[in-house]
Amino acid sequence: MSLPPVRFALVGYGAWGAHHAQSIASNPDAQLVAIVAPSEGSRAAAAKAHPSAQIFADYRQMLAQTKLDLVDVVTPSHTHAEIAYAVFDAGCHLLLEKPMALKIEDCREMVKRARERGVQFAIGHEFRLSSQWGEIKRIIESGVIGAPQYVLVELLRKPYRLGASGWRYDPQRVGSWVLEEPIHFFDLARWYLESAGNPIELHAYGNSRDPARPALYDNFSAMFRYANGAYAVVSQTLAAFEHHQTVKVSGTKGALWAGWSGALDRTLEPKCFLKVFDGEKLTEFELKKQSGEVFELREEIARCVKMVRGQALPAATGEDGLWSTGLCLLAEESIRQNRALAVGDLLRV
Ligand SMILES: NC(=O)c1ccc[n+]([C@@H]2O[C@H](COP(=O)([O-])OP(=O)(O)OC[C@H]3O[C@@H](n4cnc5c(N)ncnc54)[C@H](OP(=O)(O)O)[C@@H]3O)[C@@H](O)[C@H]2O)c1
Repeated sequence: MSLPPVRFALVGYGAWGAHHAQSIASNPDAQLVAIVAPSEGSRAAAAKAHPSAQIFADYRQMLAQTKLDLVDVVTPSHTHAEIAYAVFDAGCHLLLEKPMALKIEDCREMVKRARERGVQFAIGHEFRLSSQWGEIKRIIESGVIGAPQYVLVELLRKPYRLGASGWRYDPQRVGSWVLEEPIHFFDLARWYLESAGNPIELHAYGNSRDPARPALYDNFSAMFRYANGAYAVVSQTLAAFEHHQTVKVSGTKGALWAGWSGALDRTLEPKCFLKVFDGEKLTEFELKKQSGEVFELREEIARCVKMVRGQALPAATGEDGLWSTGLCLLAEESIRQNRALAVGDLLRV
């Protein structure tokens, strides 16, 4: 017997929210029942692209009037916490875009409330579902390169988009630029090094090419280390062009190297590679599916369908989001204090 489609509401219909809407609408096991967009322009665009969805201006009204399974929140980062609390209070499962929140206290509170309510809580770290970045985790776990000792996740790209009403260039609303793209890299590096436990110390550097926004770093690098000596480097420059991402992992036996290059982050025809060296033989790995955030988003929606049906857990949980946000905030603090900082117990909820 076929199951009824999972009922999704989308809050936020901007640049990335429109991709979420498409991914939900194209999944045969999902139904996009409602979209929330505050501005008239976004509401008109949402209604045109998704005529069967009910369109709302306010998420509270939508939550009160709609029968839902899961709410997908793709709004500017400073709004995440208040919307997440309302979703949990409505008893719905939540897919929340990264960063979970701008403050660690909100991240902790969200994890706590999701547990209390007994709902599933997924964070938009869709790289974990990638045929390329996710495959690296499987290769590491297969033992072919031995125990991972060094991870580098690095990006060279063009400057960020402004975002609706310029939120991405406003420190009050974006928090920091570390919480935008490098947060994914913190998540990946920590995931790849899962066998080493949790990181114990972090040191970061950053600078800005615009004196008007000194704390929004165009260039950012962080290193974090583990008790067993393993360490990771997360690095990004926004003061560049196109979109070129690299991952390198060295283990006790071998190493791997992956690259993704496109004119834009959302290009549908990137150049990708993944090379694995087992200590003796070098293999060029063939990706089973296309790699790129638009493809990974479809996988994320499919995973959410399974999650609601009790067939799978989130690819990245609230606890993972708490860690990735916490490491970003610690990196900001390390830059401010110009020294290495102990990670401490970020997971305390
Ligand atoms: N996982 C990823 O790879 C990834 C990629 C990109 C972005 N993101 C994250 O996704 C979020 C959105 O990014 P974006 O690039 O889509 O930004 P964006 O283009 O500025 O879109 C944000 C949208 O949110 C809407 N909005 C603002 N406040 C709202 C509220 N209270 N209720 C409902 N909607 C509200 C705005 O609506 P109006 O247009 O009506 O003003 C706007 O269209 C951010 O947190 C970002 O970090 C994640």
